[in-house]
Amino acid sequence: MNEKHDLKVEQLENYLEGKTIALCVTGGIAAIETPKIARHLRRYGAVVKAYVTPNALKFIGEASLEWATEKNVVCNLSGLAEHICLEDLVLVAPATLNTINKIMYGIADNTVTSLVASALGSKIPVYFAPCMHGSLYNNPFFQENLKKVDQYGIKIIEPRFSEGKAKIATVNTIVSSIINHYNPEVVLK
Ligand SMILES: Cc1cc2nc3c(=O)[nH]c(=O)nc-3n(C[C@H](O)[C@H](O)[C@H](O)COP(=O)(O)O)c2cc1C
Repeated sequence: MNEKHDLKVEQLENYLEGKTIALCVTGGIAAIETPKIARHLRRYGAVVKAYVTPNALKFIGEASLEWATEKNVVCNLSGLAEHICLEDLVLVAPATLNTINKIMYGIADNTVTSLVASALGSKIPVYFAPCMHGSLYNNPFFQENLKKVDQYGIKIIEPRFSEGKAKIATVNTIVSSIINHYNPEVVLK
C-alpha cells in the first residue's frame, strides 16, 4: 500500500478537475470545518492549498490542514512570494469580519489578505464564506462593505442565521458554490 494512502480521498466526480483552489482560513470558530471543506473539494478533483492567518492557527492546527490538502500550509510570507496568487480560485472560509473589512479597505498585511489582494488584481475569482456573531454581522462597517463586494467581483456564500449567529454555510453548500462557478448546471445531492 502507498504510504500516503491515508491522505487520499475518494473521487466522486471530476467537476473541479484541473482547478487549483486557495483555501484561505481566518480566525473564526468555523475554522474547524476547513479540513472537511478541503477534502470535499478534492473529492471533485480540485487541488487545494491552504493559507492561514495567525489567528486562524488558534482554531485549527497546521497539521490538520496539511493532512487534508496533502500540501504544505502557507502560514507566513517568505522569499517564495506566496502572496502572489497562482491558483484558479480563492475561497476564504471562514471569512471573519476583520479579514473581510481589511480586504475591502485594500489592506494586505498577512498571508490571506495579501493573496486576496493579488487575486483581485489578477481577476481571479474570490469567494467569501462569512461566519460571525450576529452583533459583528450587523456592524455598520461590515454591512457597508458587504454591499460593495459585488463591484469587485467577490461572491458571498451566504451564512445560515440561527442562535443569534451568522454561521458558516454547510460544507456541501460551500463546495456546491465552487462547483457551480465552473458548472452552473450541477446540483449536488
Ligand atoms: C473564541 C473566538 C471565536 C471567534 N469567532 C469569530 C468568528 O466566528 N467570526 C469573526 O469574525 N471573528 C471571530 N472571532 C474574532 C477574531 O478571531 C478576531 O477578530 C481576529 O482578529 C480575526 O483575525 P483574522 O481575520 O486575521 O483571522 C473569534 C474570537 C474568539 C476568541
